[in-house]
Amino acid sequence: MTLRAIRYENSNLEILDQLLLPAQSKYIQVKGVEDGWKVINKMQVRGAPAIAIVGCLSLAVELRNEKFDSKQQMRHEIEGKLNYLVSSRPTAVNMKIAAEDLIDLANQLSKDPNITLEDMKARFLQTVEDMLTKDIADNKAIGEIGAKEILSRVSGDSLCRILTHCNTGSLATAGYGTALGVIRSLHAMKRLEHVYCTETRPYNQGARLTAYELVHDKIPATLIVDSMVAAVMKHRNITAVVVGADRVAANGDTANKIGTYQMAVLAKYHGVPFFVAAPLTSVDLKVPSGDHIIIEERPDREMTHIGEHRIAAKGVTCWNPAFDVTPASLIAGIITEKGFFRPEQLKTLNDCQQTNNHT
Ligand code: MRU
Repeated sequence: MTLRAIRYENSNLEILDQLLLPAQSKYIQVKGVEDGWKVINKMQVRGAPAIAIVGCLSLAVELRNEKFDSKQQMRHEIEGKLNYLVSSRPTAVNMKIAAEDLIDLANQLSKDPNITLEDMKARFLQTVEDMLTKDIADNKAIGEIGAKEILSRVSGDSLCRILTHCNTGSLATAGYGTALGVIRSLHAMKRLEHVYCTETRPYNQGARLTAYELVHDKIPATLIVDSMVAAVMKHRNITAVVVGADRVAANGDTANKIGTYQMAVLAKYHGVPFFVAAPLTSVDLKVPSGDHIIIEERPDREMTHIGEHRIAAKGVTCWNPAFDVTPASLIAGIITEKGFFRPEQLKTLNDCQQTNNHT
């Protein structure tokens, strides 16, 4: 059985409620943009690519049954609703890039005299629906490119021991995953010995979601708590660290789940290569460096409670940034669907992104 975070059939959109995993697998229906905003903001769906896909599909669901008087009216509504969806979570750039591309598309279609109102709607919906298949294809390419890159650094037929953080798998994407896609590819090539996944406090994406995916796929894996990273690097002969990204700046600085930065510092100290695996939709060439990335801060409750159970002393103040920025100098390379890039080579991606936008 394939793990699917997003189910979309005949204009019906459902997401697997990730707040309930792994105890319960329950899908909830997303009936439109308001529901889309809420499930993203509450993190019932999360992971940068999944956020963008669910956001855009929630608009598709809403548009499908709506009647418009003119192409201009539809364009105006598309723009307003996409901008609203971008506000659901600020750090991951995928929703913002998808919104910009779709607003451009709506502008072009609305100005083209050869395109009717019905054609405009059909073309727009098709473009959004294609995001699901494109994301899976991109992730498979990332998996293959990343596995080859890691294997090019190990001797002979040796097997790899990979450390990863947060959840970057089928639950964070349309399927297969980015960093977890690289792990899946190594496993499929029979070149993976073991995966270590961090618990990923405070939301526990590692313990709840990555561990769930690894067990589901029967990939040999061990869960560690976040404070064990240095010990694992010292004692478990880690081949490489592979993580995902919420936003990669033009200079290669990368925002990802809180805790990623300290893993990169430790990787440098222990001489372990540190890779970021991300689709081009996570690369924001408009942002020159990580200093310009807005870091989402989430409610204290995610730290003070596990489920309904309070674990922190009452009255204590908390700081709960959901992401941190890893400087490019600590990153060996960014694995994308278009190839492997050292951070300083990222600017050449501009051409790839433009090509993507026009296909
Ligand atoms: O807060 P989350 O769970 O949305 O954070 C997710 C991450 O940080 C992932 O590593 C990132 O989005 C990449 S998912 C392919």
